[in-house]
Formats: sequence, C-alpha cells, structure tokens
Amino acid sequence: MDATIVVLGGDGIGPEIVHATRRVLDAVALRHGHTLRYDEQLIGGAAIDATGQPLPAATVEACRRADAVLLGAVGGPKWDDPRAPVRPEQGLLGIRKALGLYANLRPVKVYPALADASPLKAERLVGVDLLVVRELTGGIYFGQPRLRERREDGSERAVDTLEYTDGEIRRVVRLACQLARQRRGLVTSVDKANVLESSRLWRQVAIEVAAEYPDVKLEHQLVDSAAMRLVTHPAGFDVIVTENMFGDILTDEAAVIGGSLGLLPSASTGEGRRGLYEPIHGSAPDIAGKGVANPLGTMLSAALLLRYSLGLEAEARAIETAVERAINEGARTRDLGGTLDTTAMTDAVLARLG
Ligand code: IPM
Ligand code: MG
Repeated sequence: MDATIVVLGGDGIGPEIVHATRRVLDAVALRHGHTLRYDEQLIGGAAIDATGQPLPAATVEACRRADAVLLGAVGGPKWDDPRAPVRPEQGLLGIRKALGLYANLRPVKVYPALADASPLKAERLVGVDLLVVRELTGGIYFGQPRLRERREDGSERAVDTLEYTDGEIRRVVRLACQLARQRRGLVTSVDKANVLESSRLWRQVAIEVAAEYPDVKLEHQLVDSAAMRLVTHPAGFDVIVTENMFGDILTDEAAVIGGSLGLLPSASTGEGRRGLYEPIHGSAPDIAGKGVANPLGTMLSAALLLRYSLGLEAEARAIETAVERAINEGARTRDLGGTLDTTAMTDAVLARLG
C-alpha cells in the first residue's frame, strides 16, 4: 500500500505528539511493506503566524489530495484575544467542514492497569467500552452567529444559533446504528428535547432511523442526565450519538474515566474513506515544547487512520496492542502519574510493536 497522509501538527504540543506518532507509523509501515508519504501543512495558530489565515487554501487542497489527515492540536494563549479577527480553532472547524467530515468517532476504552489513574472507583470501570458518535459539521458550532453588538441602552449582546436539518441528523444517527450493529447493539441518543426544538427534531429523526435497524435498540437520554450517568454507570453505554457541542463536552468527561484526556483518539469521517484523525485533547500550552506530552491519544488516532482510511486492520491492531502492552507493563507519562517523557513513551510503544 502506497498512501499519502497530510500531517497537521498545529500548535502547542501538537507537533511533538505528531512527530512521535510518525515514528510509530513508519515502524508499522516498514514491517508490513507499506509506503507512507507525509505532506506537512499548516493549520491553526501556526498558520495564522505564517500566512495570516488559520486554514490556508494550500492546506485544504493538500487534504483533498491525500488519503487521510493526521492532526495534533490547535490553539493557545498567543491567539486567544477575544477581539482577534481570526482564531486557530477556525482552522480546525474549517477543515472538518471542507472535507465533509460530519461524524466524529470517539471510542472510550478503560485499561484495567490504569484504574488507579481514574477519578472513578475501580468497580465503576468494569466493562466500560463505549463509542461516542459526535455530529461534527452542524449545530451551534456552525449556525450563523450574530457578533457582539452594543445596544441602545448600553448593554451588549451576542447570539449563536443551534440549527439542524433532518438530513444532517439522519446521516449521523444512521452511522451510529451501523456501528452499534458491530458492537452490542445499543444506541443512546443524547439530546435536550425537553427544552430545545432542534433536539425534538433530533429525537424524531433518531426514532425514524432506528426503525430501519430492528436489531439495534435505541434509547433517548437528556444530556444533563447522560453527563451524570457517564460517571455513575459508564458501563451501561454502548454507542452514544449526539449533536456537536453535547458531544464535545461529554467526550472530555468520558475521556478522563479512562484515566487521562491524553489517551482518547478520534476519527472524523464523511462520505468517502478519507478521514481526519486527532486526539481529543487540546494543545496543552502549559507543557508545550517540554517534550513531556502523552503521545498515546495521537498514536491511537493513527491506528484508527490505518483502519478506516487505509483499510489496514492488522496494522491498526499492531499499534493498539503495542500501546496496551506498554500501559500494562507500566509505561506512564506524567499525566498518568509516571515519569516518562514523550520520546521514552514512544520508545516503549515501538519496542512492543508486533
Ligand atoms: C475538540 C476540540 C475542538 C472542538 C476545539 C479545539 C475547536 O475541543 O475537538 O473536541 O470543540 O471541536
Ligand atoms: Mg473538545
């Protein structure tokens, strides 16, 4: 297999964890006889500094030509001025939209060896294996905002719009049902239908879609109670499908159940095979440049890249197994209570690649 991967290091720890992950991808490619070509492009704050834009046209074009995109993280205090005309995050939202990546898969797995690192009691972690399917190109992230305005009485107002069409809901719920079929067959659709009109549409469409999948059981849960259940009974979930912002919030919560935000990978997919793969964590400006970031979330994202965009299941598993073995055998970065730096953790994974 000959494939081109666009690499978007981005900001903060992004370039470090992506560099570490490339070492692992190269080792896997070498072992299995594949050629992976990397095309490094700019996004986020780094792109603003170099070009004035968070998502240069060259980046979008390169991504369209590539088989897959691997991304580190974007954002940081340097670009955080609320009055700035452009923001790093616009680059990330822009590339998701430009590539039509409407579904973001965030699998939450608990490694028993990390039970100590979890804020939850060990008995609550037994059997936790869930997949959040987050809608990624609609909702309040993309509805027309009304920027801040000063009103006649001197007060200020800003407006965001939470908007969904039935088609946007249907395609992501359908994907959730298909994925549930390959798992335990339960889809929990999370909404706020007791308050929001868009959630009532979401719920109605979810019911219609689930009717096409008689082997899948659909349940509905309000987002506030879902947030609670994630920490009281996380093992009760199989596939969670939800709108963009609820999914953003719930997945940070779900991630720490496993011990660290640094472990959770994600895959963003659309119609074709080309996807974008990134850890769910941010750019961690506090530790950027120190070489101590946990690269595992990015490595596990690269495994998803091999599986979903390149169809390389054995190679994906090789990375996942190596990560699991490294964890089981005690490899720990600082976020997991250990002392390994990024390079040492990467070496630990490389040493266990089958
Ligand atoms: C995520 C991040 C992004 C999001 C930010 C950086 C725009 O939090 O991927 O979860 O909100 O989608
Ligand atoms: Mg987030």
